[in-house]
Amino acid sequence: MEGFDIPVPMGRPELFDFEGISMTHYFTDNWENIQKFQARPDDILITTYPKSGTTWVSYILDLLYFGNTAPERQTSLPIFFRVPFLEGTFPGLPSGVEQTDKLPTTPRLIKTHLPVQLLPKSFWEQNCRVVYVARNAKDNAVSYFHFDRMNMGDPEPGDWNTFLKRFMDGKMVFGPWYDHVCGYWEKKQTYSNIHYMFFEDMVEDTGHEVERLCSFLGLSTPIEERERITKGTHFDAMKQNNMTNYSTLPIMDFKVSPFMRKGKVGDWKNHFTVAQNEQFNEHYKQKMKNSTLRFRTEI
Ligand code: A3P
Repeated sequence: MEGFDIPVPMGRPELFDFEGISMTHYFTDNWENIQKFQARPDDILITTYPKSGTTWVSYILDLLYFGNTAPERQTSLPIFFRVPFLEGTFPGLPSGVEQTDKLPTTPRLIKTHLPVQLLPKSFWEQNCRVVYVARNAKDNAVSYFHFDRMNMGDPEPGDWNTFLKRFMDGKMVFGPWYDHVCGYWEKKQTYSNIHYMFFEDMVEDTGHEVERLCSFLGLSTPIEERERITKGTHFDAMKQNNMTNYSTLPIMDFKVSPFMRKGKVGDWKNHFTVAQNEQFNEHYKQKMKNSTLRFRTEI
């Protein structure tokens, strides 16, 4: 999106309670318009808890739909403009709702981190396809920690121990991980147009996950094209690609940590102490005891 000079914010935002979850004003300032958002039946919503592989899946979908038809899109438009962040309202930029309303593409690919209960109703009413990506809680927490260190648009994370406690308490932007992943998992029981994916499966066999995505989306993308997409969306390729590595966003300080950080399953082992791991496991068992959802913390 040309003509927008994205400013660096003056200070980190405060966390506050909003509709039962923790939020910052960047995602609530435009609340009325977010709730009123008019989805179209062919919209595709990419829904995730932050740091679960949103950008990866966004790029895969973008290539599946527009990789061949719009080459200039691939070289000049960062992924965060191709796939607008619905609830985002950042200074110097049109809101996520405005960006989505102006998208010239069909289908429109839209990103959100909203928990299931806060999603604008029209997505359900229009029976839109929803792609949900979930990541195991331990790696998700580690990734979120490093992200908050470098992303001036989120509250200060403090040290790892403080952050991990806050993660377990659910006092994170977009609320508790536990409720988020379980909320969409349960929704799947009554709303069949959700494709629930796991970050760990994507790392293990990206090609297979691309194939499954095509089948959910009703796409008959030839195998050679799928293989090209699998290769083009590999961690190393996305890290090198300025249109997918977020290096064009001044709100992020890459000197602290890159957006494309490691992309691994099991990096939590480099962060959790034995005591933290024991406490986390105990707490996790309680929080997830009523859910059939199962994650892998290593592959
Ligand atoms: P790490 O911090 O563990 O490296 P989101 O897009 O939801 O913000 O998620 C970001 C996380 O996904 C980061 O995790 C990032 O490195 C990882 N990621 C993004 N693209 C990836 C890819 N192609 N392969 C593996 N991991 C990827």
